[in-house]
Amino acid sequence: MDKLVITGGARLTGEVAVSGAKNAALPILCASLLSSEPLTLRNVPALNDIATMLKLLTRMGVTVTREGDSVTLHAGGVIEPVAPYELVKTMRASILVLGPLLARLGEARVSLPGGCAIGARPVDQHIKGLQSMGAEIGVEHGYISAKATRLRGARLFTDMVTVTGTENLMMAACLADGETVIENAAREPEVVDLAQCLSAMGARISGAGTDVIRIRGVPRLAGATHRIMPDRIETGTFLCAAAITGGDVRLTGTSTGYLDAVVDKLMDAGCDVQAEKTPAAESVRLIAPARLKAVSIRTAPYPAFPTDMQAQFMALNAVAEGTAVIRETIFENRFMHAVELQRLGADIRIDGNTAVVSGVNRLQGATVMATDLRASASLVLAGLVADGETHVERIYHLDRGYEGIEAKLTRLGATIRREKA
Ligand code: EPZ
Repeated sequence: MDKLVITGGARLTGEVAVSGAKNAALPILCASLLSSEPLTLRNVPALNDIATMLKLLTRMGVTVTREGDSVTLHAGGVIEPVAPYELVKTMRASILVLGPLLARLGEARVSLPGGCAIGARPVDQHIKGLQSMGAEIGVEHGYISAKATRLRGARLFTDMVTVTGTENLMMAACLADGETVIENAAREPEVVDLAQCLSAMGARISGAGTDVIRIRGVPRLAGATHRIMPDRIETGTFLCAAAITGGDVRLTGTSTGYLDAVVDKLMDAGCDVQAEKTPAAESVRLIAPARLKAVSIRTAPYPAFPTDMQAQFMALNAVAEGTAVIRETIFENRFMHAVELQRLGADIRIDGNTAVVSGVNRLQGATVMATDLRASASLVLAGLVADGETHVERIYHLDRGYEGIEAKLTRLGATIRREKA
């Protein structure tokens, strides 16, 4: 298993490009199952999770061709509607094939995604919604077996805001008979990007980005070409890298448009964040203060502060001036980076879903272990400012969601290298 070796102390400066959004690309790749015509996607990030999803779709019979950051998927042949355990266990987002398979083929057999480090992450809302649309669904031997002659439109209400739940139900509804209304829908930008791609394929969707999404079913969807939106969490993570090192960094190919809650907190911490827009491109520049001020955060569904940025802000607060309170309200076990940050000298007290972080002047480099994708990012951020060397082990977690992170950080002046552990 690889590790990253980081020597702290460099102030990050310069410019780096942000990749396409993992959490938009994953559902949009699955949307290819909804049509017998080719779907071409641009700005697809080169990530392990994307590779896993393409492997799953290929195993089902989807023809996949890649050229740089463009991917063309063609589900025009025989499709085997099965998502096996050995692939689903490595990537929970595989559940996103369930809705499209049911809608297009009327059957699906998808392994229950296990929990993961950050929580149990059940999929009961996905199943409940599809059953309301007429699917017969059984769960046995660790698999979801689903059948539906034709899904019918329904009024759906999810018990909590669920991003992939909303996405699964929205994709299923595109080919259902009649109108589906999803209430309490997720408002995340990635849901909007998926809706835009589905609409380009001929779906009739309104309300994406609000908590009520209406979908009028159509007999079939066509092919389309769609550009994946920029990754707002990668953007936020690199803004944090600039912030924690007292740097001055420009991120290109992205905007602050979907990061208001995060940008507000970075400005409260003392950073100057500038959105730059030309007719040709958008970028974001962050100029950090010599030392950050502590900022308290509370995660919640979009447009509130995203849970996927919580770990990164715990790293910022670990070396900021003052004390911050971090409340995690989405996942039940998303503080595993705290004990690793404590190994670097951070002063963090955990009480249930609340962490109290008192900033220290310096962290000390040490060997730490990544436990999940965003926890890994927070350890890298801490390593950028810790005294001496920090070895971050098990960075396969990091490779799931950040394209070439060490190359991008090196370009900004960080001292970081990958080693075989
Ligand atoms: C998506 O996960 C993202 N993944 C996650 O990003 C992100 O953290 C999460 O949304 C919240 O924003 C993708 O989009 C691929 P949820 P998802 O369903 O859809 C509970 C990353 O780092 N719930 O919105 O799985 C669930 O347990 C990843 O890129 C149910 O109880 O999250 C959680 O507590 C991590 N039953 C809450 O709802 C259900 O049927 C929100 O989960 C569904 C969800």
